Amino acid sequence: FQYSHIEQDLSGQHWVITAGPTMEAIDPVRFISNHSSGKMGYALAKAAIARGAKVTLISGPVQIAPPAGATIIAVKSADEMLAACEQSMTTQADVFIGAAAVADFKMKVASNQKMKKQSDTEEVTLTLVKNPDIIATLAKHKRAKTIVGFAAETQNVIEYAKSKLERKGLDIIIANDVSRSDIGFNQDENQVTVITQDATWLPDKAAKSELATQLVAFIQQHIKSAL
Ligand code: CTP
Ligand code: CA
Repeated sequence: FQYSHIEQDLSGQHWVITAGPTMEAIDPVRFISNHSSGKMGYALAKAAIARGAKVTLISGPVQIAPPAGATIIAVKSADEMLAACEQSMTTQADVFIGAAAVADFKMKVASNQKMKKQSDTEEVTLTLVKNPDIIATLAKHKRAKTIVGFAAETQNVIEYAKSKLERKGLDIIIANDVSRSDIGFNQDENQVTVITQDATWLPDKAAKSELATQLVAFIQQHIKSAL
C-alpha cells in the first residue's frame, strides 16, 4: 500500500469532510452555485487517509477523481449536503472539516418546469431563501469532536474569519483571501491563515496537496493538545 511509510496515527479516527460547491436548482435546467474546484477538500481527504483515518468525503459536483480509500457521498444541494453529513455522523465523528463552498441561498420555490422568457418583460425577480448553515448546525449538535471551517473572504480576512470561528462554534478556522488570483479557486496552490481560540498560524504558500498534509498534522496536534 502506497502510504505504508507514513505513520498511521489517525487509525481508528473517523474524519468527515465536505468539498466542492453546492448546486441549487432554479428550474430543471438552471442553477445557482459558487466557484469551487473541490481541490482543497479532496487534498485534505487524501492527507487524512494517508495517516490512517477513515474518511467520508461529502462532495458537491466537481471534476476531479475521488481519493482512493475515501467513502464518497455525492450531493448537489446544501440541504442534501447537510442530510448526508448528519447521516454520516449518527455516531460522533472525530473531525469534521467544512471545505465546501456552500451556496448561501436557494430558491424559495424551485420551478418544476423550465422557466420561459416572457416577451413583454425585461426583468425577472427570483425569491431566494437562506440555506441551512451546515457547519454551524453540526457544531451546535457536537456531531464531531473537532470542527474545522474555512472562511473565504475578499477583505478583512482575519477579522471576518475570527468572527465566523465564534459565531459558528468552531475549533479551528482556515482563512483564505479569495480576491487573490494566484491562490484559491481552481488554483493548485493556496495560502491560508489558521486560527484557533488562542493561536494564529500562517503556513507558507504551498501546493494544496502539501498544505493539506500540514493542515491535517495541525488538526491532529490540536486534538492531542486539547486532551
Ligand atoms: N458553511 C456551511 N453552510 C453554509 C455556509 C457556509 O457549512 N450554508 C461553511 C463553509 O463550508 C465554511 C464556513 O461555513 O467552512 C464559512 O463559509 P463562508 O461562506 O466563508 O461563511 P458564511 O457564514 O456563509 O458567511 P459569508 O458568505 O457571508 O461570508
Ligand atoms: Ca457563504
